[in-house]
Amino acid sequence: MTGNPKLIDKLFSALPPKESRALSTVVSLADDSDVRVFLVGGPVRDLLLGLAPTDLDVSVEGDAIAFATRLAEATDGRLVRHATFGTATVSAGWRIDLATARTETYSRPGVLPKVQPSTIDADLLRRDFTINALALALNGPAPGKLLDPTRGKDDLDAGLVRVIHDRSFQDDATRILRAARYETRFGFRLEEATQDLVHRDLPYLVTITGVRLRHDIERTFEEGRADQAVSRLRGLGVLSTVHSGLDWTPAQAKALRVLKPPLPAGSRPVAWAILAWETPSAQIEPLVKRLALTKAQAEAVRSVPFLRDLRARLNNDLRPSEVDRLLSSFPLNAVLALSVIEDTPASRWARLYLKLRSIHPLLRGDDLQSLRVPRGPAVGEMLALLRAAKLDGEAKTRADEERLVREYLAQNSE
Ligand code: CTP
Repeated sequence: MTGNPKLIDKLFSALPPKESRALSTVVSLADDSDVRVFLVGGPVRDLLLGLAPTDLDVSVEGDAIAFATRLAEATDGRLVRHATFGTATVSAGWRIDLATARTETYSRPGVLPKVQPSTIDADLLRRDFTINALALALNGPAPGKLLDPTRGKDDLDAGLVRVIHDRSFQDDATRILRAARYETRFGFRLEEATQDLVHRDLPYLVTITGVRLRHDIERTFEEGRADQAVSRLRGLGVLSTVHSGLDWTPAQAKALRVLKPPLPAGSRPVAWAILAWETPSAQIEPLVKRLALTKAQAEAVRSVPFLRDLRARLNNDLRPSEVDRLLSSFPLNAVLALSVIEDTPASRWARLYLKLRSIHPLLRGDDLQSLRVPRGPAVGEMLALLRAAKLDGEAKTRADEERLVREYLAQNSE
């Protein structure tokens, strides 16, 4: 067996110093305990594409949890174990995911697989696509050896996303969404037979739980070209199969671009509101249920039909305070979605509203009491009135606000 020390050098020099030191510890611990360890999947693919690996996935031919425990001790790292899958994560300002090399069997389509320890070769063959069925030996007889049992490197060179076996999407239909991500992220395309399998196996998406589907769609939002990845999901028929109320128009795509992907986790409710923008009202609740949306996501999505209807009223004849009143009853995430959907008076008002939210009168509750506004609801009412006047440009200074208070008191004492 021959290794390729150059690939190992390339790996270590692509990593930030902390990761690089942590991975060196993995290698020396593995040597000490006579265990073979491999970098697997995404990071090997990325390395071959000349990209810096984003996560470090290490496959251990042996007990990964015991190995991870030793790594955590040696590095003073935090250990998180997932006993069911024989995987563990160690982190300490860096993060390494370790997994026991394993085979997986799916008892039914869409369910999580049963796992059994195996060799690295069998582990690679259980994977989704040839471009991910790659391992780089980190130690053993041939460090740096690339294990590529399905000719993934050829597919990387040709820019093809190809399944390893023709039941792959039936085992796990979320792989269809993964394929669309790889196509857009790397500018690849589905290999022809794989594309046929996508069409054949789309109905298997019904076997996937809402939570898993939601997570995979959210991973799509996190892509740098999220709008294109979602367009591809539409083109492949994934969106309409996931839920008949889902569509993806150029306006929605543009809105997602305006949010500047990759989207952080906090922006997910906005992205969901954009994705549901064309969903008919009657389909909103079934969609929320099917995708097991979180509370904040569901709230944003439920507001979509109301905001769509409100658009006609959000015209140029309104005053800022009226817009503020109309939009303040909606979740902020939904208004954010409206603000980036198309360029209409409604979206412009939504953008202005987002700025208006932070505007408050200069006078406070205490000031009002000094001006003899009676304690109780009148204070709140007066503050709201002052805020509206300020939003509409009718109260610019403290003196303007005080004048308005006096006028209000005079009117109310008549
Ligand atoms: N995998 C799979 N089927 C899935 C999910 C994952 O076969 N439904 C395999 C893939 O081969 C992948 C590996 O498990 O390389 C790790 O999956 P994941 O952590 O999701 O991939 P990353 O490498 O982290 O992410 P990406 O590929 O998007 O960079």
